[in-house]
Amino acid sequence: MKSFVFENPTKVFFGKGCVKEHLAAAIEGYGKTVMLAYGGGSIKRNGIYDEVCAILREAGKEIVEFSGIMANPTYAKALEGAELAREKDVDLILGVGGGSVMDCCKAIALAARYEGDVWRDFWERTGVFDFELLPVGVIVTMAGTGSECNGGSVLTNERLKVKAGRDYPACNPRFALMDPTYTYSVPRSQIVAGSFDTLSHIMEIYFSEPDEDNVSDDLSEALMRNVIRSLRAALADPKDYTARSNLMWDASMAENRIIKLGKRLDFQCHKMEHQIGAYTDCSHGAGLAVLHPVYYRHIYKDGLSKFKRFAVEVWGVSPDGKTDEEIARAGIDALEAFIREVGLPSTLRGLGADGKTDLKTIADSCEIVSSNYRQLTHAEILEIFEECF
Ligand code: NZQ
Ligand code: ZN
Repeated sequence: MKSFVFENPTKVFFGKGCVKEHLAAAIEGYGKTVMLAYGGGSIKRNGIYDEVCAILREAGKEIVEFSGIMANPTYAKALEGAELAREKDVDLILGVGGGSVMDCCKAIALAARYEGDVWRDFWERTGVFDFELLPVGVIVTMAGTGSECNGGSVLTNERLKVKAGRDYPACNPRFALMDPTYTYSVPRSQIVAGSFDTLSHIMEIYFSEPDEDNVSDDLSEALMRNVIRSLRAALADPKDYTARSNLMWDASMAENRIIKLGKRLDFQCHKMEHQIGAYTDCSHGAGLAVLHPVYYRHIYKDGLSKFKRFAVEVWGVSPDGKTDEEIARAGIDALEAFIREVGLPSTLRGLGADGKTDLKTIADSCEIVSSNYRQLTHAEILEIFEECF
């Protein structure tokens, strides 16, 4: 394994009723003014908003609301939140939502305390934290990104047409409350997109060196099998608490840095999807579902032994009578069949792209990673996009 330093400062409260039980204690000691940040209003429809507000009021907190955080949050929205946080002298940001809300809250926490050019100094390049961020706590309402347990904050800069994120331990939420029953109201399309995002995170880590015996790969296989099994169960019965619990914790486990330890990481598919998202505003998980099988058909020969292992260990492909390449391809076929089975899109047109979508400009704007099995070129990314179209 590569050498590593591990840190995860987020305190997690997990389980049915955890918000009622632990929120009041979790927010103690942060001062009086709490920014309650949320998205387009799902928390008002499913009752989470009322439950959280009642606890905040009971604890004597002053609530500053910041709503309308959109899916794929923009840099402009984060700056708007930072402005409000400064104006109201906010002591704690409490984000209630999915990855978009959580990511935006971390950016607000940073931008509210930084005087310089936030995008240039923290998103374009690796930032230096010689100042204290506003503290952030989160209440997760949708499983998928794992943002609750990391310092990742992915923002879309609409002016530059760039979607980018970095993972700073300084941006980790101080606490995360995770009640699987809060995810019961998530629409089916978002359940599958979020779960595929989790699966994608694990694959992006698993398909990278080292390939010799290491604990991260073993954990990753177990997690991938769990996501696949639990998503099927959650779709069959949306109120299956066990399945929802698994999906929620799978998402955190995929992105709390534990399975990344000692691995080089790929994430080329994420870089490609983020730029598709910057131009089309598509759902992140759905975009990944379109790209993954095609990307893997391009690179599997460069990581043949791992793709073979993936087929056998994750999808139960029988190796009998097959060449290594046939086994590897059967694993990618199984991944693609699963994508279709759960109703995720498999073409860029299914994400809203059309004849006017400038695939070459999007391909040229993608960051190229060098830690994957084979480094792509912009020309090959364009080929992948055209095959996905
Ligand atoms: O806006 P509201 O009304 O809350 O509705 C949301 C939104 O429309 C809805 N939703 C969430 N919880 C719900 C619910 N609807 C009903 N009941 C509930 N309990 O679901 C929709 C999607 O929410 P969103 O937060 O956008 O989804 P997700 O969690 O997939 O987050 C996606 C964002 O996270 C970024 C993505 O790029 C994208 O911008 N990512 C963040 C990462 C990180 N921080 O580590 C890593 C990922 O790779 C990813 O890039
Ligand atoms: Zn993702």
